[in-house]
Amino acid sequence: MSMYSREVVAEVLAANDIVQIIGAFVELKGAGGGRKKGLCPFHREKTPSFVVSQDKQIYNCFGCGKHGDAISFVMEHEGLAFVEALQKLADRGNVRLPAPTGDNNGADGLRKQLLDCNNLATRFFRAVLKDENRGKTARVYLDSRRLKAETVDRFGLGYAPEGWSTLLDALQKRGVSEPVLGASGLFKDRDGGGRYDAFRNRLMFPIKDVSGNVVAFGGRALDDSPAKYINSPETQVYRKSRVLYALHEARDAMRREKFAILVEGYFDALRCFDAGIENVVATCGTALTAEQASLIRRYVPSVVIVYDGDAAGIQAALKGTGVLTAAGLAVRAMALPGGQDPDDFIRDAGGGAFRQMVSEASDFVTFYARQSESRLGSIEGRTQVAHELFDILRHIEDEVRLDEYLGLTAERLGLNPWACRKEYEKYTTSTPQRKVEDDAPEIEVQYVFSKDDCDFLAALMRDPALLDTARKALELVPPRNRTAMLEVLEVLCRGDVRSMQSDFEREEARRLYAASAAIDAEQITEPELLVSKRLKALEKESLRIEAAETIAEIQEAERAGDPLRLTVALQRKVQLKKQLERIGAS
Ligand code: UTP
Ligand code: MN
Repeated sequence: MSMYSREVVAEVLAANDIVQIIGAFVELKGAGGGRKKGLCPFHREKTPSFVVSQDKQIYNCFGCGKHGDAISFVMEHEGLAFVEALQKLADRGNVRLPAPTGDNNGADGLRKQLLDCNNLATRFFRAVLKDENRGKTARVYLDSRRLKAETVDRFGLGYAPEGWSTLLDALQKRGVSEPVLGASGLFKDRDGGGRYDAFRNRLMFPIKDVSGNVVAFGGRALDDSPAKYINSPETQVYRKSRVLYALHEARDAMRREKFAILVEGYFDALRCFDAGIENVVATCGTALTAEQASLIRRYVPSVVIVYDGDAAGIQAALKGTGVLTAAGLAVRAMALPGGQDPDDFIRDAGGGAFRQMVSEASDFVTFYARQSESRLGSIEGRTQVAHELFDILRHIEDEVRLDEYLGLTAERLGLNPWACRKEYEKYTTSTPQRKVEDDAPEIEVQYVFSKDDCDFLAALMRDPALLDTARKALELVPPRNRTAMLEVLEVLCRGDVRSMQSDFEREEARRLYAASAAIDAEQITEPELLVSKRLKALEKESLRIEAAETIAEIQEAERAGDPLRLTVALQRKVQLKKQLERIGAS
């Protein structure tokens, strides 16, 4: 992960106060025990379950499970990578970061290797595009699309040439290992073994994450291939639902302009940038997800959807509106004349005209009513359109805004405002909320942990003298059976937690630690009793596991016909049984 030593990370954390950092975005109120509480910024809720501990410098949401320290908050909230968040907090706390050291391991090692592999592939595609002979077809095509060279360079466009193994050969020559090639999503498996290039004779668009790492590719066919565009499959570094094309390039302009323009295609985004309009991101043909919406929400409060003006585009825009609204974004929408896409329109009419249209884009209610004009002639049609709008409006939590939109709906559909409100109440109470990927955008896996573990650890944090007794648990349980709870215990026994990222190995352990640090320790009235009970339970649990293992060992020894092994195992079984009885009785 980190490339920075845990000391440096700890120093950066020590130079910042998490309450101030989170307090800048979330209204926090005192909750006792050095804790503050507020509405979780990561999921929608009405009663606060988001706890920030000043003492422990962590946050934990008991609703959605989001947790961490100041660094993870900045990463999550601003969509930054670890090192970027670290840098930001270092600047804020006036800590100078030393040059990073390069220690990588485990999943982070693979992640880094995949990113390196994608970088090599990007460079290869670019070199081919620029190659006098090999890049000719692609250059001719690209010229026909009339983009500035700067735009093409900025987005790193390239060309995957014809042939079955041009990229494969190039990457192998540069020493990319087989497992990395296999995990890269750039190749397909051959029936008889081996692999071949997935992208052939295609114009290549590197797809970046917010931090600018190339995580995947899109490729546009230059021949009459049935698939106009193909995209990388999901990989260890690419989760489709979390990535928006051009967000890396757009984020500064988004912050500046305070809204984002959402388009559908690669070329649409590129054309906007080409015309100097930079607050633009693209969904690239897939339905907008709640995660993408909350990613946008981190930078701007409002969005203008500019999808193709055809029926499919309008339906996609409507679906997208629901998802964006649910994420708390204000949504406007527009369709371009003559079914043009932004690329066509800007090429014909220019960036100025596009900007003008965007600034005049109407709220989505008005937009949708206009697009549904043909259905508004009959009462049935009007009701149907109203219901479709209600399905979006029901995600709006703010009563004032909801009221405004209901008023608009009535006006645009020619309904009586009061009747419209009644119909809305009736509709939303009688129809179950359709699963528009809304509610708590679940970005990470939830780890279930027991309340007992949580209380046990909270007691130890409240009363560190108890750690001397609790330490025993680490001897009871062999390392191979170490649970997340025992990992946390081990860390607590070593001393204070200084950085969650580097002190814990497992995400589950981080989660459990944050939850334990966030509960109100005052409520634990008899910490000593709690600790001794939990220790006894642990011992029992551990003996049971060993007993089960011994039984397996006995069977194995019988099968292998090994009398010595069998005797040892049988003796152990008797011993364990006695120990278990003793604990049970005491
Ligand atoms: P469009 O079909 O509207 O293409 O798809 P476009 O962007 O106008 O493409 P050009 O101008 O003909 O080159 C919009 C987006 O949907 C995705 C791509 O991201 C594309 O940019 N798409 C489209 C696919 O993923 N696969 C396809 O087969 C087609
Ligand atoms: Mn197009």
